[in-house]
Amino acid sequence: MRKRIRLHQVRVGMFIEELEGPAHQLPRRSGRFLVSSTKDLDRMLKSHAMSVIIDTRKGLDVDRDTQRSNVFDTTRFETHLATKFTVAEIALARKTIEETRPHIRQVLSSARMEGVFKLDAATQAVEQLMVETTTNPGALIGVAKLKRADEETFIHCLAVSALMITFGRTLGLEDGPVRHLGLGGLVHDLGKMTLPVALLRKAGQLSPPEFAVIRTHPERGYQLLANTAEIPAPVLDICLYHHEKFDGSGYPRGLAGEQIPYPARIASICDVYDALTSVRPYKPALSQAEATDVMLRSRNHFDPDLLRRFVSEVIISGAIC
Ligand SMILES: [Fe+2]
Repeated sequence: MRKRIRLHQVRVGMFIEELEGPAHQLPRRSGRFLVSSTKDLDRMLKSHAMSVIIDTRKGLDVDRDTQRSNVFDTTRFETHLATKFTVAEIALARKTIEETRPHIRQVLSSARMEGVFKLDAATQAVEQLMVETTTNPGALIGVAKLKRADEETFIHCLAVSALMITFGRTLGLEDGPVRHLGLGGLVHDLGKMTLPVALLRKAGQLSPPEFAVIRTHPERGYQLLANTAEIPAPVLDICLYHHEKFDGSGYPRGLAGEQIPYPARIASICDVYDALTSVRPYKPALSQAEATDVMLRSRNHFDPDLLRRFVSEVIISGAIC
């Protein structure tokens, strides 16, 4: 049986049918072979493959425990990063995350404890991300995946902000609008800081009333930001409309198509991509290829032109990993 798996799930003894990724970045020996040694395995980990098709009739299957595990394979992902970026690039990405941490934490804790938005702290974090993503967006977004479980909120803010800056630049936007995207990405879920922690951390299925409470977070965030002077309109739009869907089935307003502000359509793609590729208490992380599959299959959710450009120019181009 053919099965698509993540690159880090490949083991010696598996039969490879196909490596998936940008054709020009795949090794010459990119299909139909048995992984017979750790040398083969290393060569594959160093490739630019995004995912792998195996045939379980001709070789080993993915270990069931591994397949179902919610544990992110940090060591293998670190190896993967080390094959894509230099030691200096990874060190710089780690430094940026450490330097933005106190600012982002201040934004989150002020919203939770005092119900206020600290624009200065958010702006400082975005400026650092703007600089770092000029040369090193893939390393930053990759290193962010190595987060600890208790850093989920902080890292999601940082990762969505960095993704939006990167995507905005890819779209050819000027620095001003890109900066708004970065700030919007950082604060898009700020309304969640006003919700009960137990509800946010609940691992099981949410009941309909609980889900209804969660769905109030865009408007809660918008109110919190709107009370602060000098918040640019695109940032407010991102906060309020990042859960709208292109076919009109989203919330809170049920806007459709181009009724949804452009920055919010960008935010929707980056937010879902980061959520799919991150470990959550209720699900494992998907690979880039799996996340791309899921997003292309739910294309009514997203602006189709923006989704096409995100997949081709941010993911397949190798800008991030
Ligand atoms: Fe959200």
